[in-house]
Amino acid sequence: MNSAQLRKIFLEFFEKKGHKIVPSSSLIPSDPSVLFTTAGMQQFKPYFLGEKSPYGNRAVSVQKCLRTSDIDEVGDESHLTFFEMLGNFSFGVSAEALSRNAKDEAGYFKKEAIEMAIEFLTKKCKLSKKKLWFTFFSGQAGLPADADSKNLLLESGIAPERILSFNKETNWWGPTGNEGPCGPTVEIHFDLLGKPCDSGEKCLPNCRCGRFIEIWNLVFNEYYQNQAGELSALEQKGVDTGMGLERLAAACQKKNSVFETDLFAPIMKIVNKGDNPEKQRVIADHIRSAVFLISEDIMPLNVERGYVLRRLLRKIFTNIEILGLEQKKIYELVKAVIENYQDVYPELGRNEEGIITVVQQESEKFERAKEAGRKIYDKIKQSAPEGRITGANAFDLYSTHSIPLEITEEWVRRDNMEIKERDDFFKLQKQHQEISRAGAEKKFGGLGQEAISPEAIKLHTATHLLHASLRKVLGDSVKQMGSDITPQRLRFDFSFDRKLSDEELRKIEETVNEKIRENLFVKKEERPLKEALESGALAFFKEKYPDIVSVYSIGEFSKEICAGPHSESTGALGNFKIIKQESVGSGIRRIKAALH
Ligand code: SER
Repeated sequence: MNSAQLRKIFLEFFEKKGHKIVPSSSLIPSDPSVLFTTAGMQQFKPYFLGEKSPYGNRAVSVQKCLRTSDIDEVGDESHLTFFEMLGNFSFGVSAEALSRNAKDEAGYFKKEAIEMAIEFLTKKCKLSKKKLWFTFFSGQAGLPADADSKNLLLESGIAPERILSFNKETNWWGPTGNEGPCGPTVEIHFDLLGKPCDSGEKCLPNCRCGRFIEIWNLVFNEYYQNQAGELSALEQKGVDTGMGLERLAAACQKKNSVFETDLFAPIMKIVNKGDNPEKQRVIADHIRSAVFLISEDIMPLNVERGYVLRRLLRKIFTNIEILGLEQKKIYELVKAVIENYQDVYPELGRNEEGIITVVQQESEKFERAKEAGRKIYDKIKQSAPEGRITGANAFDLYSTHSIPLEITEEWVRRDNMEIKERDDFFKLQKQHQEISRAGAEKKFGGLGQEAISPEAIKLHTATHLLHASLRKVLGDSVKQMGSDITPQRLRFDFSFDRKLSDEELRKIEETVNEKIRENLFVKKEERPLKEALESGALAFFKEKYPDIVSVYSIGEFSKEICAGPHSESTGALGNFKIIKQESVGSGIRRIKAALH
């Protein structure tokens, strides 16, 4: 069965069982606490929490999803960044539908969810029941084991030896973002190879040998997790299921990996060169993500979603080079993705030219970065003993010219050499990440990067605009003394020895708003500290900076040493409003402001 048929029979099967077919939502979620849509349930989150669903109590969808959490696993048989999730959902049992005896419209819970899943896989997809393995939640940390699910599986005729239990790390799902519904899961695994690996009896679902592929996750939303991580029982229990279309296709098409299915065949044909299947797979996976992201108007940048896109594209360029393919192959790849998906996702076909242009511009930028990096590489070679390149050199190339380690390695390999002290690259990279994170935590009053909300990010960029505007209106004696950001407001302390007049405040506010209206790009560069300071970048004297720092420039207007993160451009900030000014000790003023 091809993947177009699989999408169709899935939707039809659940539609017949009273589910409303809901189109895929965007890859850019409305929930501001997550970067991408990572699951089908995301667009339905409010309905799990009691808000009335416009679709009734049952919905079914095929959702485009993007996950960066598995990015390092891409290259094996089953992990992907972009994938399509087939999902059926129940938002709780409606008393009204039950009273009319309209059972199909009412929601459902574990029994129906498990029975329908088994029926779909065995009757519609014709998968052998004997190849299906099931896992359920074993109970942990004060939470009971999901004995109901185990019994329901047994009642459905699943052999006890193919029902296993796992802990919270494996058989629990959610919430997405900072808070939301969550609960125990039943996961369905398909036995692709039919025999154990070398670990013998221990080769069971979740073994990493490639024998099993997890195809379907049935989540029973019984709990609500708040921002502090505390659980409370949900009044209305819901079902959220997610099945990877690519993985189901591998099982139904009797393939050993998702990359052999019809969803990837036209893409793999283009990169099928040499004996490096891992790199071929990374290209095949990343090109789908990149094309879908660009079709949703994401541009390659150094922050947020744009940064993910930039990483994906640069990884593709790098792997194309390592495989010895021509760079222009990427355009064939883009076209193959569009061709393969435009019937289901017309936004791809509509934007073909635009997508190619974005890829082309990024490819040119990367080529320029490589040229600059190559010059430095040649210089290091000339000046170093026996032309040796070290891990530290490779890190310099990476942090100042964005040259990935793989490219430096490729250059070194072509020079018939090896990178010396290669591990230093990773040590320096880790140090660098820790320093950036510590910097960000300090600036954000102890919030970790992951917890920074989009509102806080915008306010952070607004803080830089405010800083520059203060200096423009009041003079260069203004220096940052402190900064604090919550999702609701920014607070900025600076050196100045008198109260600001209303006219000055108005001018400062107007200058910030002018810069927002100009929609200036926020550019990030990595620079040695000394060079950054010499170039006039503002620094915060209380901060202890590392040797290599990030410099954020907003057009020509502002330049500061800062750990980020920031908005991609100022246009998204909205309207800037000063809420109040205060004095905090002698010679220090405080401004509180917000964005609307
Ligand atoms: N939300 C669950 C998942 O993403 C099931 O849809 O796995």
